[in-house]
Amino acid sequence: MSATGHLGDYPRYRPRRNRQTAWSRRLVRENTLTVDDLIWPIFVQPGQGKRTPVPSLPGVDRLTIDIAVEEAQRAEALGIPVIALFPATPAELKTPECEEAINPDNLVCQAVRAIKEANLDLGILCDVALDPYSSHGQDGLVRDGYVVNDETVEMLCRQAIVQAQAGCDIIAPSDMMDGRIGAIRNALDHDCYQHVQIMAYAAKYASAFYGPFRDAVGSSGNLGGGDKKTYQMDPANSDEALREVALDLKEGADMVMVKPGMPYLDIVHRVKETFSVPTYVYQVSGEYAMLHAAAGNGWLDLEKSMMESLMGFKRAGADGILTYFAPQAAERIQSG
Ligand code: PBG
Repeated sequence: MSATGHLGDYPRYRPRRNRQTAWSRRLVRENTLTVDDLIWPIFVQPGQGKRTPVPSLPGVDRLTIDIAVEEAQRAEALGIPVIALFPATPAELKTPECEEAINPDNLVCQAVRAIKEANLDLGILCDVALDPYSSHGQDGLVRDGYVVNDETVEMLCRQAIVQAQAGCDIIAPSDMMDGRIGAIRNALDHDCYQHVQIMAYAAKYASAFYGPFRDAVGSSGNLGGGDKKTYQMDPANSDEALREVALDLKEGADMVMVKPGMPYLDIVHRVKETFSVPTYVYQVSGEYAMLHAAAGNGWLDLEKSMMESLMGFKRAGADGILTYFAPQAAERIQSG
């Protein structure tokens, strides 16, 4: 039967009948959000015992590794299955050729090792892309003003390998180069990392909503007025998102991601309906900042709008959500 096939006529049929009590609303509820749906992005910085706020991401701090380990313990205690690590690389280590990305002792690799030592029931996801390491703020290597594909993919493979060596569980390429999922899968398999999972940022758009993230990893100034439109997707397209997902799955992605989230729920829905594979969505920094800004002005209730936005992702078909709200949402879910 179709979703509307049983409809009767008013006044015999009254949709409000099922909504009149809390228990009845619970009974007919179609989707649920649990802590198992949450992936928590964390920014790491060098040093010891220091939290540095990110002004455009209220409530989000860059953490030194010792504090990141404590937060990882908190994630485990909250029941969050995965944390995602992003490095705030010191400016002096950023270069045009992004050598720091393949340094086995870079910030992210150190953080992965330290968190792994704590032996937690917690997955660690690492982004693969060159922007946290590049002096130009682009996700790939630049030749004559163009972000080149194949040479970048070689670097990404080496970046994935140092992260896998450090103990990263899920490699998440966020660069949008062509062919990188297959190349990274081959590189991992060749080096006996067959068990390392790949979550592909398959449909990632050239979005204006990444601004606060770029502040957090210190790439916004480097990028200047530049954009990423020659590799990230055009926000006007959706058939193309399905082709991107199909390619990444064919190349060996275990899970796919749509990014950003709230303005792209149609893409989440189409991807899940079309492929029936584990599908994730990134509620990006600008979405988080936007809700905080409105709440800060007293225009929105932060907790309610947070939970509603997260439920929206579930309703659209997402199997999980990367969100800076992860710890607050988990606390909220745990306290009922
Ligand atoms: C790196 C990367 C970005 C984000 C995640 N990984 C920035 C970008 O593509 O410019 C953005 C996440 C967010 O805004 O929260 N390629």
